[in-house]
Amino acid sequence: MKKICPSILSADFAKLEEEVKDAEKAGADIIHCDIMDGHFVPNISFGSKIVSDVNKITSLPLDVHLMIENSEYFIDEFYKAGADYISVHYENNFHLNRLINRIKSLGIKAGVVLNPATPVSMLTDIIQYADFILIMSVNPGFGGQKFISNSLNKIRELKKLITSNNYDCLIEVDGGVDTENIKEISDAGADMFVCGSSVFNSADRSETIRKMKESVS
Ligand code: DX5
Ligand code: ZN
Repeated sequence: MKKICPSILSADFAKLEEEVKDAEKAGADIIHCDIMDGHFVPNISFGSKIVSDVNKITSLPLDVHLMIENSEYFIDEFYKAGADYISVHYENNFHLNRLINRIKSLGIKAGVVLNPATPVSMLTDIIQYADFILIMSVNPGFGGQKFISNSLNKIRELKKLITSNNYDCLIEVDGGVDTENIKEISDAGADMFVCGSSVFNSADRSETIRKMKESVS
């Protein structure tokens, strides 16, 4: 079953409880939390306090995407805050194998994220340990950017790698996903779709998520 994962980065933080509950009511499967530190990416979002507060008001799983330096210092903190999935970037984590194993040892799902310019081939020696791979289809840092079309080739290549090796690994796609392109992204092999502005800025969130689910089923 493919999953729609609205990113609360595009929600109105002044009424976050209402926004999360609305996304849940509209059919969201997972809540995506974008953690940005102003160093790895040129933006600051929020930390584990918000994740923990969101965890108290929703029964949906929380997917924490770390766009920060020193991810290893923060794994336990986000786990305690209620993360069910934690993903870390390939580009700034030197001890990726240790980090992925640490996340999995907590009994939650561990993901490796690739920036748009990082090739799928970099995953050769880590993919067998990951529960999911997150393909960034925009440069990380901001919501509301345009989907980079080359990401489709990366998703296809990754899907082939997973199928030919029989890896137990899902593909998540993040950035510029909307009702228009979600079918093509799904057909390329994606299982989880992060949707920030396309869901939170939509006039009818239920209808948007319904359309998305119809397109990927
Ligand atoms: C970007 C974040 C995304 C972002 C997606 O750095 O990782 O999760 O919120 O937003 P949209 O769907 O608007 O591109
Ligand atoms: Zn994200």
